[in-house]
Amino acid sequence: MSKDTIYQDPHPPSDFTFNARVAEVFDDMLQRSVPCYQQVIDMTATLLARFAADGDRIYDLGCSTGTTLLHLARRLEAKELQFTGIDSSRAMIDKAVLKAEMLATQNTIRFVQGDIAEIELEPCGACILNYTLQFIRPMARKKFLTRLHSALKPGGILIISEKIISHDLLLNRTFIDLYHDFKRGQGYTETEIARKREALENILIPFSIQENIALLKKAGFSHVETFFQWFNFASFMAVKD
Ligand SMILES: C[S@@+](CC[C@H](N)C(=O)[O-])C[C@H]1O[C@@H](n2cnc3c(N)ncnc32)[C@H](O)[C@@H]1O
Repeated sequence: MSKDTIYQDPHPPSDFTFNARVAEVFDDMLQRSVPCYQQVIDMTATLLARFAADGDRIYDLGCSTGTTLLHLARRLEAKELQFTGIDSSRAMIDKAVLKAEMLATQNTIRFVQGDIAEIELEPCGACILNYTLQFIRPMARKKFLTRLHSALKPGGILIISEKIISHDLLLNRTFIDLYHDFKRGQGYTETEIARKREALENILIPFSIQENIALLKKAGFSHVETFFQWFNFASFMAVKD
């Protein structure tokens, strides 16, 4: 796995984009930047084992290099699910296809380049939206989630993981400090942390837990709850009636 050294460069890209340079180091970046990344994938698999019906279509929206779907395809093999990963970044999709070929799972997983806010979705048993809603313009989020609600079959599940904010200023500051401690512990320097933070400014726009839950309810989901939180990261599940 190539190591993420993008923000060691004194002239890094000013705004964060999911280009070829990022795709190349992305698996390392995610594991060192997203706390409990693997644990959330494991919990996603546990939820799908319970909620998805045999043969269901499962979407991973903003699938990046396909890590989540490759794990799910192995763990949930007996359910014969049809996995589709969608990402707007050509470089991410190319990497995902390569990984699927190497693991010989290309027959069960389809990777498609497209904009998840625009692309036509087929009826599905689950949508996974891990660390991606935060990159959709706030104004567009309700309409987007309403589309996912429409695509899900009754009893279908939407799983969302996000960076979050707290409306309590003291706790918000504390959670961000603890997150920066985590990144330092993963080997990122002070400069790398500061440069990445700047590059993501106005691009990654986190909501609070309460705002995300309210949004999901407005989008039509009646069963909504968090199932995981690590300081300023949370995972949500929403089930369609
Ligand atoms: C932080 S990554 C997601 C990580 C991935 N879900 C995982 O858990 O491994 C965000 C991804 O969303 C993609 N993305 C952002 N906006 C998008 C959009 N409108 N349509 C499709 N993909 C999008 C980016 O290209 C990027 O690969």
